[in-house]
Amino acid sequence: MGPVFDVAGVSIPKLGLGTFNMDGDVAIKAVSEGLKGGYRHVDTAEMYGNEVAVGKGIAASGLTRGDVFVTTKVWHDHLDDAAMQNAAEGSLKRLGLDYVDLYLIHWPSRDVPVAEAVAALGKVHRRGLARAVGISNFPVKLIEQAVAASEVELAVNQVEYHPFFDQSAVLSAVRRHGMGLTAYCPLARGKILNDDTITGIAEKHGVTPAAVTLAWLIGQDGVLAIPKSSSPERLMENLKALDVTLTDTERAAIDALRSPAGRLIDPEFAPDWD
Ligand SMILES: NC(=O)c1ccc[n+]([C@@H]2O[C@H](COP(=O)([O-])OP(=O)(O)OC[C@H]3O[C@@H](n4cnc5c(N)ncnc54)[C@H](OP(=O)(O)O)[C@@H]3O)[C@@H](O)[C@H]2O)c1
Repeated sequence: MGPVFDVAGVSIPKLGLGTFNMDGDVAIKAVSEGLKGGYRHVDTAEMYGNEVAVGKGIAASGLTRGDVFVTTKVWHDHLDDAAMQNAAEGSLKRLGLDYVDLYLIHWPSRDVPVAEAVAALGKVHRRGLARAVGISNFPVKLIEQAVAASEVELAVNQVEYHPFFDQSAVLSAVRRHGMGLTAYCPLARGKILNDDTITGIAEKHGVTPAAVTLAWLIGQDGVLAIPKSSSPERLMENLKALDVTLTDTERAAIDALRSPAGRLIDPEFAPDWD
């Protein structure tokens, strides 16, 4: 299972399995094989449309419920209280679970104030539908608003983070509040494969560029990562990150690749970024 991040009463495996852009048999197989192969943390969302398949994959893994950490997310048009309670119940029904381990606001909304959305999130927690709650795609200003308004401890902010994108402002903010940063697009959707610094370090360690990148991420204080692969072979390659120890010099070389311009995900409904 590897290292965990303890926060808000839960213990989250730092390396998880992302599931965006896969569904049906591919998703069932990736999740079940991934869990059989050693993953203990799965990330989905109501927007991915794959919660039924993810739930089937978890069931097919044969693991007991308490051994798998399951995250799902509420879409930004369901952030008022009635819509969020309904969305959380729908996600559980599709997943075939009584609770999720972590429930995240997928994106902030320009229509529902942060305080109102976070109050609804607190109710999802109070009702026992989620063991912990958190946020995703929140820039620093909105992190501060969410933390100030929340009656429950927020576990993580899930944001884009990979070697080419500077997230130091968000990282400092979440650390200040004792939260984790879950890195999405941790492999920069495959771009890390073409980087000479990363491939050079990978060759030295005899592992893949993906394993090096993931080791660089989860080696950082409070950083978790949820790489996605539809291939059971690549899922296992990515899990090898748990066996990689980078030197300070190697870490610094990867740190130096970051840029404020490295963002890949920027939909029209995104908040004003830092
Ligand atoms: N909160 C949000 O708004 C948000 C946004 C985006 C993503 N996410 C979450 O974060 C997860 C990860 O992000 P992502 O899927 O966008 O990007 P990613 O994990 O950076 O990259 C996934 C891509 O890399 C390929 N890949 C995976 N392992 C590989 C390896 N070892 N060697 C070569 N290629 C490899 C995959 O292809 P194959 O499938 O063919 O292996 C896929 O095309 C998502 O699945 C989702 O759960 C959250």
